Amino acid sequence: IVRHSPIALVRPGEPPLIKGWLPYLGMALKFQKDPLNLMKTLQRKYGDIFTLLLGGKELKNPKQLSFRKFSKRISAKVFTVKKMMTDEDLGEDIHGAFHLLQGKALDSLLENMIQILNQIFESKLLKTTNWKTERMFPFISSLVFETTFTTIYGKILAGDREKIIGDLRDDFFKFDDKFPYLVSDIPIQFLGNVKSIRKKLIKCLTSEKLTTLQGSSEIVHRRQDILEKYYRVEDFEIGAHHLGLLWASVANTIPAMFWTMYYLLQYPEVMKVLRDEVEGLLQSTGQKIGPGLSLCFDREQLDSLVCLESTILEALRLSSFSSVFRFVEEDMSLDLEIDKYCLRKGDFVAIFPPVVHCDPEVFEAPEEFRFDRFLEDGKKKKNFFKRGKKLQYFMIPFGLGASKCPGRYFAIAEIKMLLIMFLTYFDLEVIDKKPIGLNYSRLFFGIQHPDSDISFRYKAKS
Ligand code: HEM
Repeated sequence: IVRHSPIALVRPGEPPLIKGWLPYLGMALKFQKDPLNLMKTLQRKYGDIFTLLLGGKELKNPKQLSFRKFSKRISAKVFTVKKMMTDEDLGEDIHGAFHLLQGKALDSLLENMIQILNQIFESKLLKTTNWKTERMFPFISSLVFETTFTTIYGKILAGDREKIIGDLRDDFFKFDDKFPYLVSDIPIQFLGNVKSIRKKLIKCLTSEKLTTLQGSSEIVHRRQDILEKYYRVEDFEIGAHHLGLLWASVANTIPAMFWTMYYLLQYPEVMKVLRDEVEGLLQSTGQKIGPGLSLCFDREQLDSLVCLESTILEALRLSSFSSVFRFVEEDMSLDLEIDKYCLRKGDFVAIFPPVVHCDPEVFEAPEEFRFDRFLEDGKKKKNFFKRGKKLQYFMIPFGLGASKCPGRYFAIAEIKMLLIMFLTYFDLEVIDKKPIGLNYSRLFFGIQHPDSDISFRYKAKS
């Protein structure tokens, strides 16, 4: 719980209040410096729920800031999507279309994705028959960007498509780089040329530009229909909505894929287990590795790759800071799985994933990477306990409740497919085997980026 009032006193039933040693600034400075350690220390001392006094901007009108309003403010600030602030129906309609990232619609998205991956790997990577060294973060970023963009928005048909997608990707990364600042209250004029880059990106995603792409997904069509109900077809803000979805679909998947690959390369014995699992699936589905790429999987088959899934979840457990935010609109009592607490109107509740993801009572030796943490008797492990009680929320990288990420199945499936391609067709080796840590610049927002990069090499298997 975050409280901004410097004269706050604890009332009976409320969680302990930690003020820190600097009046007003409270714990803010310590928190910024090393959030994970600070939270762990406080958790050990005060338990799972505590109130932190943070300095900075005082929240003047918390009533304005329930979850929906909070996320709409972010959309307006970061992507320039303004109409949702005033038009409730538009927000409802947009939300109503998110189911097109799941269920049957997801099946066709994934069918499309595997074909796109086959093409990308065939044309770009499989020709690498001698070892080639790459920096991992930019390598993964490009691959995830192209795969996700093409699956959701469609294929660029122009002859110079490589240049167009390359420029789009580079601009997207420049924009994403400034994301933590765009969310803050720093005026955009102080953020270099990000304003003009954002404009350029939005221009690439206008109604007119989207019609030139081939094979865009059902969710893009549905969103476009919805947007044309609320805007004129030529309105710039339509492109801003699409930039929002593009960002949501790419920005967290990149570091999630990065961390999974990073751990695989650090632990060749895990890579061997996963190679065997993938090979087993290929055999059971009668697919042979030969010249010309044509791998093909459906969702059920992907779902059966439990070791791969456990490895991805373990990477997410260690890197996810995707906090869930809520403003307390009235004094209330919060009945959690283990304890009950009183919350005060005006408090800001942030459910911070590392508090549960790194809790030694839930995950033994939580600082260690263990690829089989989410496996039990060769199946997905679903039961985790704290103080003898079975937990419902032991993994929350995708948030929880009504605002839980609608793209979570898509994201996991994409990472699985990318890994299947790598494990099936390539030899992979890490070059600089060094431990790397998290860079906390996206604290509270999603999967953290690494604080440095590693080099690795790959070559197509002969
Ligand atoms: C590993 C990758 C991903 C992670 C960790 C992630 C995480 C999250 C989180 C934490 C939220 C906010 C939930 C909340 O506030 O309670 C969210 C929202 C969202 N995500 Fe994801 N996400 C990922 C990938 C994707 C993908 C691939 C897509 C689309 C294809 C996507 C689409 C969305 C959308 C549209 C929202 C906004 C939902 C809303 O406004 O209610 N995400 N995601």
